[in-house]
Amino acid sequence: MKLLKTLLVLFITMQVSAQQGGMWIPSLLEGMNEDEMTSLGSKLTAQDIYDVNNSSLKDAIGHFNGGCTTEIISDKGLILTNHHCGFGQIQSHSSLENDYLKDGFWAMNLDEELPNEGLFVEFIVSIEDVTERVFSGVTDGMSEREKQSIIDRNSNSVQQQTKTEAWQNTKIKAFYKGNQYFLFVTERFEDIRLVGAPPSSIGKFGSDTDNWVFPRHTGDFSMFRIYADENNHPAKYSKSNKPYKPKHYLPVSLDGIEEGDFTLVFGFPGRTNEYLPAVAIEHITKEFNPSNIAIREAALKVIDANMKTSDAVRIKYASKQARIANAWKKWIGENQGIEKSNAVANRKAFEAKYTQALKTKGLEAKYGNILPEFDKLYKDFADINIKRRNFIEVFLVTNELMQMTFRAFQMEMATNANTQNFEQAKATLINRLKGIHKNYDVGVDKDVYKAVMPLYTNAVDASIYENTAFTNLESALKLLEGSPKEVIKRLNKDAAYKYAKPLMQAFADKIDAQFQQKNAPITALQKQYMKALMEALPDARYFPDANSTLRVTYGQVKGYSPRDAVYYQPVSYLDGIMEKYIAGDYEFDVPAKLRDLYIAKDFGQYADANGKVPVCFIGTNHTTGGNSGSPAIDAEGNLIGLNFDRVWEGTMSDMNYDPEICRNIMVDLRYVLFIIDKYAGATHLIDEMKLVHPKKK
Ligand code: ARG
Ligand code: ASP
Repeated sequence: MKLLKTLLVLFITMQVSAQQGGMWIPSLLEGMNEDEMTSLGSKLTAQDIYDVNNSSLKDAIGHFNGGCTTEIISDKGLILTNHHCGFGQIQSHSSLENDYLKDGFWAMNLDEELPNEGLFVEFIVSIEDVTERVFSGVTDGMSEREKQSIIDRNSNSVQQQTKTEAWQNTKIKAFYKGNQYFLFVTERFEDIRLVGAPPSSIGKFGSDTDNWVFPRHTGDFSMFRIYADENNHPAKYSKSNKPYKPKHYLPVSLDGIEEGDFTLVFGFPGRTNEYLPAVAIEHITKEFNPSNIAIREAALKVIDANMKTSDAVRIKYASKQARIANAWKKWIGENQGIEKSNAVANRKAFEAKYTQALKTKGLEAKYGNILPEFDKLYKDFADINIKRRNFIEVFLVTNELMQMTFRAFQMEMATNANTQNFEQAKATLINRLKGIHKNYDVGVDKDVYKAVMPLYTNAVDASIYENTAFTNLESALKLLEGSPKEVIKRLNKDAAYKYAKPLMQAFADKIDAQFQQKNAPITALQKQYMKALMEALPDARYFPDANSTLRVTYGQVKGYSPRDAVYYQPVSYLDGIMEKYIAGDYEFDVPAKLRDLYIAKDFGQYADANGKVPVCFIGTNHTTGGNSGSPAIDAEGNLIGLNFDRVWEGTMSDMNYDPEICRNIMVDLRYVLFIIDKYAGATHLIDEMKLVHPKKK
């Protein structure tokens, strides 16, 4: 009997560890997902998480500016997201005199909260499967283009037929590579004010050295507040707007986590590609990533060196540098993870299983051509995919003078037809130039040019920096004065523009055009492959790839072993910050006040049972870019952490989730509260939250 019980427990835990991974649609959790969550320790029902008729967890989860996630933590619209998600806003309120990036910012009352033009937070009101309506009239014999035009038409009419309130919007998104469609009713708030941010030495502690790495000690959080009109509806910024009263907000747990605890991460993951054929994974990791890594590496060398020697450059380039460095490092980790986990060989083995299943199920005639076709298409696609992305890396990611010429090129292209287009395109260009020049340093940019351009073309000529209007905002605006004819003529005499134009022309006419042409059949085949997989191997675990829609991922707090003889504990502590501390270092400095609190052990109610302040923890939640700022929620629906990163060995989870080494990194909410309360003295914000003790009932 005892043996049977042990075996049973063993069986269940084995199943549990296999049942990890996936980003699930919140309206479809009943059944399998609910059961899995329960087996992992959750006490939540599917309805607690998503309910159209009553308030539920989903009402507290917002899409932050289209790229990150945020959650409501008070009945006055107070929201939390990552420091790196609010970075642009914090930076835009910063100057050499008021350096909020360096020193942090805390609004001590509502009047001190800072408005942010353009910033928005969007909530999901409802999610509905509209696949049948979207596919109505589509038949197998049609070409992809015909199908798509019917799908587009149907989608429009579904949206039009959907009854919404005046302040709501709708959108339709494709799932499972275009085999399913869902309708979302949304509410978008546009008066979002900055409430608080720790200094970068806390919010970005460890910077690029620690980015994508565990053990981690980053207090990666910032706070904002949603404002609404007098009816509590979304509205543009107005002084008379009031703090938003949410349908639901998350209570904050003071009891924290320990290894094995259930965690649910609820947010807006951006993009994953979990169903790629092996040939695609090989292309990405062996050819595509390395060439892009090289370009970013060259740019970073220049930017980093300049940021270290000049405070002005540091402030101007902080955000750009973080953006460039982030994907650069991620790709390196992704390549290593794919290699280490034998992902390509495993995927090939899986493909053999799939091919066998096609045979046994009599599906060979229908789907047997897909994998050989992928091989052929990728062989033909590889070069153009790399060339196109390299152009983007040089012209849109790293070199700003080239970016300005590219924006001007877009204006010239839009203009050829008529003058009305010209005025509009010119206004767009002017806005972009102003945006770039807000944080521009011509010396840095010229060195970036010299570093990256040779990786794209042999035609390198840095003297263009001496003979162009674009490196100075005033002269650039001057160049744009006058009639369309005059402007275009002047533009084509500008040295930088003259230099860049043939490269841009080749990109538009040949490179991008060819890319689109060769990518289209791959996309179509991927849709067919998804369908084939689900038919051939119906019992496998299928979750839709991330597509910037609201998803649930669940798992447990858990350590891992990144390599032989190394094991990472799941929780890091304030002690680790002191271990990493390097006085005056640009990545590992620690503010004096935090050091003092540590020495005095002045931890308030935020230490754990051993008297230590937890800082970060890791879990088996399957996350990706866009999940930053997502709440980590405990078994009862309380906030325990803030998702902000993944471990380096596991960044391949975008293509190949492996529960052995893929971990998401969260900042412990007790550390967030400790910083707000003890470090910043913003106790009014703590008072506004609902602090709970779920484990001490
Ligand atoms: N790697 C995390 C993510 O992809 C954090 C990025 C921000 N931090 C940084 N040092 N760049 O967003
Ligand atoms: N740091 C990422 C984000 O900003 C999260 C991730 O890629 O794990 O969304």
